[in-house]
Order: sequence, then structure tokens, then C-alpha cells
Amino acid sequence: MREYRVSELTGNEILAKPVCLDNGSVILEIGTALKVSYKESLTSLNIQKIYAEDPFEKYEKVNLYFKPDVFLKFENDLKAILSQHIYKEHSGLRKLENLVRELVNVFEMTKEDRALDIKDRTSDMYEHTIYISLLVMLLGKEYGFSRKRMENAVLGCLLHDLGYRYIDINYKGYSWDDLNYSQLHELKKHTVLGYTALENEVWIPEISKLMVLSHHERLDGSGYPLRQKNNQKECRMIQICDAFDCAVSGMESSKKTIIQAFDLISDKEKFESRMEKILERKIGFYPAGTVVKTEEGKKAVVISQTENAQAPIILYTGGMKENHFVTENLNRKKAPKITNII
Ligand SMILES: [Fe+2]
Ligand SMILES: [Fe+2]
Repeated sequence: MREYRVSELTGNEILAKPVCLDNGSVILEIGTALKVSYKESLTSLNIQKIYAEDPFEKYEKVNLYFKPDVFLKFENDLKAILSQHIYKEHSGLRKLENLVRELVNVFEMTKEDRALDIKDRTSDMYEHTIYISLLVMLLGKEYGFSRKRMENAVLGCLLHDLGYRYIDINYKGYSWDDLNYSQLHELKKHTVLGYTALENEVWIPEISKLMVLSHHERLDGSGYPLRQKNNQKECRMIQICDAFDCAVSGMESSKKTIIQAFDLISDKEKFESRMEKILERKIGFYPAGTVVKTEEGKKAVVISQTENAQAPIILYTGGMKENHFVTENLNRKKAPKITNII
């Protein structure tokens, strides 16, 4: 399934989700073959996006580092632990120690050289938290973190947005760009609230607590809540990974492309440049399923990452016949370059 802008429909796409009006009434059922003539009527009904079947999805080999079912299990385990948590009732939170060990174990066992695919993201906090743990582990590995240091960093990641549980505003699916001053002020409290809830917990290392408090701070002291310039690597790691993942997931911000998110974190005043360069090497610029154009003017869809985050394997879609398609690994000399995303 892929999200299509109504304006890019070319006809014959098969609906993968029904098209509904604001009042919930279904105007087009799943399985409907779309016609070009529908574009105008959908636009006049203020429907800009639809979900249609993606004929190339079956060729994709997505790299999430963890297998999809393992990734989902981590998300569900985290949700089960955090959703039962009540302010200052911490016995249940200690279950996170097991989750931390599992996450680091699976990460250490994963032999994956391809760049990470960041695809089909939602603004779900638990999904966001597992991605941040993964990104911080990628950085920790490059910085030669010991097992203990890695576990402490991952614990900080799992707890970092805990404070959202103590505020009334629904954090899910919002963009900070749409909030008024007092709502924004309320949401920004999640850092302090998370930290004070955990402050006296002796089983949580100081560095993990500090990651919770400082994950929205910036190198130049322009962040919040304390406008601190943190020197600890773990704090700087969670700051850059959180900013990146918020951008690509649409959590706390409007949803951005991978390239726009890299633009955001390449600000040397705010984020550590070495960390940004590592993430650029580790995260695929063009996630599986991205429709691209090569410098030869050919249209293709990305089906797999390679070791080079900017040179994936693509499948040419132009003139494709049943069971006859051409793929090309762009991670080799003389291979064409991608010029833009379509
Ligand atoms: Fe946050
Ligand atoms: Fe976050």
C-alpha cells in the first residue's frame, strides 16, 4: 500500500483503503480501480490523498535492522509497560530493564550492512521511541560504547518522552506548528515532568535521567527546558536522533522527507556535526518504495538499500511487462545517480 497525492494519479490504481468524507461516509470502496476523471471530483471534495495498492511492494526488501515482527514486539512491550505506568509508581517501570537488554542483544546480533529504511512512519510515540533507541545504538556503536554504556543510553531513550503521560493534551498526531502558546508551553513540560518523576529512582543511572531532561536542548543553548549546553555524548545523541525522528515521523512537527530532516539536523550550531555525518551514512536517503528519477530521466522505484545510503537498488518501472523487470544497483561506479524524488 502506498499513499498517493490525488494530483499524481494516472488511472488504474487500486484503492487499498476506502475514500471517506469528513462525516465518515464512504464514497469509494477498497478495490475500486481509479479513473483519471476522478481526480477533479476528489479534489472538489477536498480529498488530497488516497491509499492505493503498490504493485512494486512485493519486490521490496526493507531493512529495519530488526525483523518486522521483532520491531513490533518491542513497540508492544514498551506500550504495555508505559501505558500501565502511573506518576511516581515505578515498580512496573523496572520491566524496562529487560526490554533494554533485549534491544541491545538483538542489535548486537544483527549483521546488517545496508542503510536503514525509514518508511511508512506514523506519529506514534512508541514507534518513535524504538526508532530513537535504534538510531542512538547506531551512534553508540560508532563511538565504541561499552555494553553498559549502550544499555544506559537505550534506557534513557525508552524513558525520554515519559512526561507526556502526565499532561492532558493529546500528543498523538499533533504538529507543534498548529498549537497556541499555552498548549506549546504545556507540551514542553514533558521533559521536566519526566525527569522529576524519575529523579529519585536509584536503579536508573544519572545519564539516562539526564537524557530525559535534556532531549530537547541544543548545542548552542537554544533548546528547552533549561537552555543548557550538554557535553555528554548520550545527551547530544538523543537530541539529534529525537529531532531527526520527530521530523520524519511527524511527531511534534509537520512530517518531513528524509532529506529535509537531514537539512534540519545539519545545523552545526545546534547538533554535533560528527553525529550528523554518521546518521547520513546509516540512514537510506531514499527508503524502499520511494519513486525516483535517475539522471538518465528514467523512472524507478527503490526496492532495497545498499551499504551506500545514497545509492540504493532500484527497479525501473517504465514499460514494465508481467514478470519482466529490470533492477539496477546504484552502488557501483558509473551507475546513474538519482536526481529527484517523484
Ligand atoms: Fe520529547
Ligand atoms: Fe521524542
